[in-house]
Amino acid sequence: MGNDTFQTKTLTRDYQSLCQNHLHVLDVMVTRRSWRRYQEWTITSDLRSQLEAFITRAKHLRGCPDDDLILVTDKSRLPESFQAAYKGFTGKINPWLPKSSAAGFLALAISGQARHKDRPLAYALPAMVAQDTALWLTENGLGSVWLAGLNAKQMAKSLRLPPDKVVPAILMFGKTGLKPQGFNIDNILYKTLSRKRKNLHQIVYQDFYGKTFHIPGSLSQTLSVKPLTIAESMDALTRWDEDTSPGDISQLEWEILAESARIAPSGANRQQWKFILIKDKALHAELGRLLNETRAFSGIIACLGKPGSFEEMTLERPFWMIDLPIAMSHISIMAGALDLSSKVYLDIPEADINAVLKLDPTWRTVGLIGLKQRG
Ligand SMILES: Cc1cc2nc3c(=O)[nH]c(=O)nc-3n(C[C@H](O)[C@H](O)[C@H](O)COP(=O)(O)O)c2cc1C
Repeated sequence: MGNDTFQTKTLTRDYQSLCQNHLHVLDVMVTRRSWRRYQEWTITSDLRSQLEAFITRAKHLRGCPDDDLILVTDKSRLPESFQAAYKGFTGKINPWLPKSSAAGFLALAISGQARHKDRPLAYALPAMVAQDTALWLTENGLGSVWLAGLNAKQMAKSLRLPPDKVVPAILMFGKTGLKPQGFNIDNILYKTLSRKRKNLHQIVYQDFYGKTFHIPGSLSQTLSVKPLTIAESMDALTRWDEDTSPGDISQLEWEILAESARIAPSGANRQQWKFILIKDKALHAELGRLLNETRAFSGIIACLGKPGSFEEMTLERPFWMIDLPIAMSHISIMAGALDLSSKVYLDIPEADINAVLKLDPTWRTVGLIGLKQRG
């Protein structure tokens, strides 16, 4: 990622001016955008090895089963997969796909039965790892796009997956220009759909569903940060048990964590999400009991999704279990960049947690992220 990299998202405040060193990970998240047009290019064996090593590490850190994500960079295999993706109603959403000149893709390969579960968790871990990878690709100067508008069964067939598996989404990637230009699908979708985001105050609450998280007009705080890469920031996920007497999270840190979720991608850019920033110590203790967590928290972020959207019905994808894990990838990587350790909880007693957080019944807790400031 060079200095001339095109920046796509407008942030709620100028966080970099409040950081004593540059917060590199924020730049990566701002720079990442969906690219739907690529240049002819083949990944080098060296870069492919680095990409593989990153994905393996991310799978390990997230606890994602190896078979749930498949990397394809052999260009001779791409036409067959993209033609398979394009078959049927769902595939026609992306008419540009067969001619995209992508260099490869990462396929979510999960059980076809998973989507019928009340909590289709099988989508969550591969979605997080794929988003970790999207950020790594951006950092390494490559573009990517999530695609759920594809024929899941035919894609699985083209990849010779076992018959019970489907490919509900892929992260496609390749070499791009510096910025969207000209009259084409890439530029049109970027300008009309992709670059907009809800305001921060529309998507965050404090402690309970519906309680305002105050965002002051100006902040006099500053932060000392290290210029960590995406991979280095993710390594903070290994530190959870080390930090035993956690300190407090500052207003600026809460805002940057929430902002990292705000700028994450979501299907059709719906942003059907809310994030409860939980500061209250009594709530930490109550949620800690429900999560069987013996360690104290500095903070918790509850990540809420809203199932049952029009897109979920028509495309038959549980977007709430893909979009929220994508945002959770951002939050946990940003936590690492801010030198906070974090732990992601997805296997949760959801009804109890929804009750504690006083959720409106149309919203559901996808997961929680525990945070610890080094004491
Ligand atoms: C789960 C998921 C599925 C998506 N599917 C498609 C798709 O089928 N076609 C497409 O053009 N974009 C797709 N997108 C890209 C979104 O439209 C895009 O992320 C959103 O508009 C925000 O723009 P940005 O990624 O440039 O920030 C998808 C994104 C996600 C997260």
